[in-house]
Amino acid sequence: MSGTPMNAGLLQRPFAAVTGLGVAVPPRVVTNAWFEERLETSDQWIVERTGIRERRIADPTQTVAELSREASELAMAQAGITADDIDSIILGTATPDRLLPSTACDLQVLLGARNATAFDISAACPGFVYAMTVAEGLIASGQSRTSLVIGAEKLSAITDMEDRSTAILFGDGAGAAIIQRTTPEGKAPRGILSTFLKSDGRLGNLLYRPGGGSADPISDKVVAERTHYLRMSGREVFKAAVIAMAEASDEAIRRAGVTADDIDLLVPHQANVRIIEATAKHAGMPMDRVMVNGDRYGNTSSASIPLALDQALREGRMGPGSLVLVVAFGAGFTWGSAVIRW
Ligand code: ACO
Repeated sequence: MSGTPMNAGLLQRPFAAVTGLGVAVPPRVVTNAWFEERLETSDQWIVERTGIRERRIADPTQTVAELSREASELAMAQAGITADDIDSIILGTATPDRLLPSTACDLQVLLGARNATAFDISAACPGFVYAMTVAEGLIASGQSRTSLVIGAEKLSAITDMEDRSTAILFGDGAGAAIIQRTTPEGKAPRGILSTFLKSDGRLGNLLYRPGGGSADPISDKVVAERTHYLRMSGREVFKAAVIAMAEASDEAIRRAGVTADDIDLLVPHQANVRIIEATAKHAGMPMDRVMVNGDRYGNTSSASIPLALDQALREGRMGPGSLVLVVAFGAGFTWGSAVIRW
């Protein structure tokens, strides 16, 4: 091995920038009171332990591809591009509409993006960060100029609504970003300045769907035992998330060559406000520089970061020139982060 550090990169960043953002959530709002009526739980417990007050739940007939289409069309309009301009569609999801083919291919049809390659990424909650990193790589290697990156979920389809330890956590939604080739201009050029991805598959069974895949195909037994639903060892996941989110923040900041003081806004995955607070504390960032909207949407897995970015933009908490740190953690375990100059 030469003395060059692995992440020094072969090219000068940034070579890709986010030029458009769009989100879509189902209209149905489910508050904590809805769960109080059905499960042994309380609004007080849910708010104190998670920060969540309400979430959006899709109509059973609504698909991830349709939610993604709505978000993508808004992102395309913001970037001022048409479907013909898109040459890659990369969709992070833990809840694909079908196991085959990819939801990205279904989305390609809905958008009429006939010039694109399309594929899904299975990386759970950091799915958007993973997809964005892959898009940046395709752009850096000259294989793509304009990428559509999506994080989209219908977690209600894989959540056991009779299990109080998981039912109250999740929500449905989609977020999309247009990532385009850019050339660095000026002293503080816009674009993706750093990315960091990591996994630890040894801990996979702390957050997983035991049945319904090819190892244990869907059957009467799977349905009777409810193993097609998500299962989680919450306390263990919580501890791992706090450690991994801290590592991911540190790494993205270090690789971008900035400090935590330089970061204008931390936009973390919205799993639990206590995990977010621990991440901010570790980075030495006060909560007024942290975006929190999990109270309104719950944990939307891969959609959570674009949903939070979009709201932060609309509320004027970030804008052109802002230095933004995104950090996520999820099933796998997987975690990842990026520093982006908006
Ligand atoms: N209402 C009331 N009581 C509850 C509920 C509920 N909804 N759920 C669990 N409890 C009870 C438990 O049974 C337990 O009771 P016991 O002490 O009598 O055994 C008690 O509350 C404490 O349970 P814990 O699981 O220890 O509670 P904790 O404080 O850890 O909070 C939570 C649980 C909210 C799930 C938390 O652990 C968490 O947020 N974990 C991380 C989730 C996460 O980050 N996921 C990320 C990725 S998600 C993805 O990739 C799709």
